Amino acid sequence: MSPVSATDRQTRTPARMTRSVMIAALVLFCGHAGTGFAQSDYPTRPITMIVPFAAGGPTDVIARLLEGSLSRSLSQQIVIENVVGAGGTTAATRAMRAAPDGYTIMLGNMGTHAAAVALYPKLAYFPSTDFAPIGLVVRTSILMVARKDFPARDLTAFIAYANEHAGELKMAHAGIGSVSYVACALFNAIIGVSPKLAGFQGTEPAMSALLAGKADYMCDQTVAIVPRAKALSIHVYAVASPTRNRSLPDIPTAQEAGLPQFEVTAWNALFALKGTPRPIIDKLNAALGTALADPAVRKALLDVGSEIPDHPDRSPEALARLVRHEIARWMHIPRFGEAKN
Ligand code: MLT
Repeated sequence: MSPVSATDRQTRTPARMTRSVMIAALVLFCGHAGTGFAQSDYPTRPITMIVPFAAGGPTDVIARLLEGSLSRSLSQQIVIENVVGAGGTTAATRAMRAAPDGYTIMLGNMGTHAAAVALYPKLAYFPSTDFAPIGLVVRTSILMVARKDFPARDLTAFIAYANEHAGELKMAHAGIGSVSYVACALFNAIIGVSPKLAGFQGTEPAMSALLAGKADYMCDQTVAIVPRAKALSIHVYAVASPTRNRSLPDIPTAQEAGLPQFEVTAWNALFALKGTPRPIIDKLNAALGTALADPAVRKALLDVGSEIPDHPDRSPEALARLVRHEIARWMHIPRFGEAKN
């Protein structure tokens, strides 16, 4: 081995350093270029959209109405996965543990991404910090309904009946913390009743129980109610919004029916995971905007009584504000039933 002279050391060390600096720079460049490439190329494979309730319910219907347009805009298939349980929180917990790469997104609602915080003391996620908002999809009014043969013709008669038969009434809901649960929790607190609970894994099985006469009443989004109301298979008492719903113009507002405090507007929104790169969020938000501008999608959403938010309300920032506001709003929701998670 030839000895290394001091001169060699002086000349070779900087050369070696230069080489390693260049390699490091190349690795860094390739790394960034790779990430940038991955983001600008996104999506290169199907995207899973987690729906936190059973098939056929409002969240599932809305997801399926968006699916085709989102797939076309993103040139990738949207795979809807219904993950049920615990008022939608099982799905949100599962979504929260996915990689923040835009390949798992979730259609959440006022329950999973707001009210659940108050109702589940051991909730594994916090909606405003574990998720990256993509955009608000729809707002929906809530209707209070009963089985078709329920012996009360209007809301005043329902309230009188409920107070006379305290402890006998059975309320169906889509899981503790779901929109249907939360809306009826508010209704029950206002009229002062504590019904027996019949909980399900989504609105569709809850509605089936109501239609079969196995439950007396429920509160839920127009999406689930409008078709049943039009088929006259349930009794609809009131809409919990300041104005009547254009899909059910004969149904009075709660205010008109004598219960002005009963006011709830539910919503559905798309979420990715915290840490998802902003260019991916922007791409998903743009695809959502395209879907909500599509005349066929708009008509289908409006036909089931949904309200499509204006453009400024559909930004990720606007959704982040809505989530924070709604968490605070439902923090003091009256509790009944036991939330397990
Ligand atoms: C809810 O009550 O949160 C939803 O209506 C449930 C569902 O979409 O099935």
